[in-house]
Amino acid sequence: MRNDLSGSTILVTGASSGIGREMVRIVARKAKALVLVARRQDRLEALQSEILTLNPGLRVLCISADLSKQASIDQLLQALSSEKIEVDHLINNAGLGDFTPLEKSNWNKLEQMISTNVVAPVYLAHRLLEGMLRRGRGGILNVGSTAGMLPIPYFSAYCGTKYFMSGFSQSLRCELAGTNVTVTELCPGPVATEFESIAGENIDVQVPKWVEISAPDCARAAISGFEAGRARVIPGASMKVGMFLMNFVPLPVTRLFQGNFAKVVRRKYFS
Ligand SMILES: NC(=O)c1ccc[n+]([C@@H]2O[C@H](COP(=O)([O-])OP(=O)(O)OC[C@H]3O[C@@H](n4cnc5c(N)ncnc54)[C@H](OP(=O)(O)O)[C@@H]3O)[C@@H](O)[C@H]2O)c1
Repeated sequence: MRNDLSGSTILVTGASSGIGREMVRIVARKAKALVLVARRQDRLEALQSEILTLNPGLRVLCISADLSKQASIDQLLQALSSEKIEVDHLINNAGLGDFTPLEKSNWNKLEQMISTNVVAPVYLAHRLLEGMLRRGRGGILNVGSTAGMLPIPYFSAYCGTKYFMSGFSQSLRCELAGTNVTVTELCPGPVATEFESIAGENIDVQVPKWVEISAPDCARAAISGFEAGRARVIPGASMKVGMFLMNFVPLPVTRLFQGNFAKVVRRKYFS
């Protein structure tokens, strides 16, 4: 089922940077109203000024919220209700990673990551879905990752959050069959954003350039897949082919390969 974004009200989390900011730039041309959410209000306001030049009739609300805290999400929902905003499309994009051996991770960062990547998207969907179903129109775009499709050592908790996002998205999509409300899971491989510097503050992650795509390319694939009502979108030709081929590799073989990679990394960085 196609998802018509024109004339709709769209809430985008993580709109201050990277993939989220690029998705906003695309949907700003079609939407009636946009709610931009992230912690950095100054960046949201800069984006607001930019997109109002693209579409002067657009209504834009910038809401600074820390999605790792339920009280902050409740304030966001309260602001929507005070402004009489009904969200047709929810883009659950905000997230962060942590590329570190689990035992050496900072627990506060891990907890913040799990709350932002897992709890917040489910809570927002839980609170906004009823309105979509009542109006018989809407959709949820959940930003997962190819890290939710295969084991990656030193990324275990992050991978766990994205495996969760995958199970959640695919199951909710089935649950909503026949309702006119769709769910799309976006599974990017490496994308050039601020994500790497936040995830890799303990390890200098060198992503091979041939697999990395730009945030605008990722956002274009995401929004066109969401509009087409696709269940899962893997942006970029090399990741698409790579993940297709991974379907033919038995999990024990992947684990063996990743385990050997992990031994090299542990010797180089952590012994
Ligand atoms: N880049 C990649 O290689 C890659 C690959 C696969 C999947 N992804 C996923 O893509 C999504 C977007 O990441 P990105 O690559 O665009 O990274 P990014 O440039 O670092 O953007 C992350 C966004 O999330 C927001 N955010 C983080 N923690 C938040 C919190 N506690 N409360 C509210 N907002 C928060 C940030 O805003 P503030 O800091 O202003 O709050 C920012 O707007 C994430 O879910 C990530 O897991 C990224």
